[in-house]
Amino acid sequence: MYKIVAKKVLAPAIKQFQIQAPEIAARARPGQFVVLRIDEKGERIPLTIADYDPKGGTVILVFQEAGRTTMELGRLEEGDSILDLVGPLGKPSEIRRYGKVICIGGGVGIAAIYPIARALKEAGNEVVSIIGARCRDHLFLVEKMGEVSDALEITTDDGSAGRKGFVTGVLQDLLVGEEGIDLVVAIGPPAMMRAVAELTRPYRVRTVVSLNPIMVDGIGMCGACRVAVGGKTRFACVDGPEFNAHLVDWPVVMQRARMFREEEKRAVEDYFLGSECRCRKR
Ligand code: FES
Repeated sequence: MYKIVAKKVLAPAIKQFQIQAPEIAARARPGQFVVLRIDEKGERIPLTIADYDPKGGTVILVFQEAGRTTMELGRLEEGDSILDLVGPLGKPSEIRRYGKVICIGGGVGIAAIYPIARALKEAGNEVVSIIGARCRDHLFLVEKMGEVSDALEITTDDGSAGRKGFVTGVLQDLLVGEEGIDLVVAIGPPAMMRAVAELTRPYRVRTVVSLNPIMVDGIGMCGACRVAVGGKTRFACVDGPEFNAHLVDWPVVMQRARMFREEEKRAVEDYFLGSECRCRKR
């Protein structure tokens, strides 16, 4: 069992757990993830490791309550425990001195980009970060992102904080206005990562995205997380989750992301109907 030692609400429907998991904390690297199962009947879900403390033996997980399992997870409190936490899984981010790096986090992807931005900064890169959210209330980790960035740009869809619009608006300006961007790393919704890939492609700027498809075992056996990259089938859990954004087959990624939307919607409805209501089963 893995105990939740601290819980924070970062933004509406976005929650952070600090979880006692010494073995994972000792081995975690930026870009890796865990597969979590709340209880014996629970669905397995992958969550990026947003931070880790090897000395304290804890990992930080940030998740958005977007489906039944993440809603169930969000109801757990400090002192509660999670049955399974498997990890760290996936290949760590390739951290080295590139030069000038743009780190982009959209929505809950802000949590995932944070340890990567920090590691890139520690490796001697000039880090410009762009974080984007729906509105001011959905922004989080702003201060921490500022601490690991040489410059931090903020965007909100409604203009309630930072620049009005999407992260791609700022990226476009940087690509047009500045020479020598050596790497772009983007983590967020598939549509955002695809838009970033299309923007940087003509500039031939190396661009890395972290894919988060449906996963089951997380160790390359089940095939649930397959994606097409450079014309080849890859498993995000063992070959990724980071890939060259210009080689990702985006229509397939988008289509697979939508694949279980109806089932997920029904699962959420059932969850809210609760066990007392049997009418849907008759
Ligand atoms: S989650 Fe099963 S192969 Fe990747």
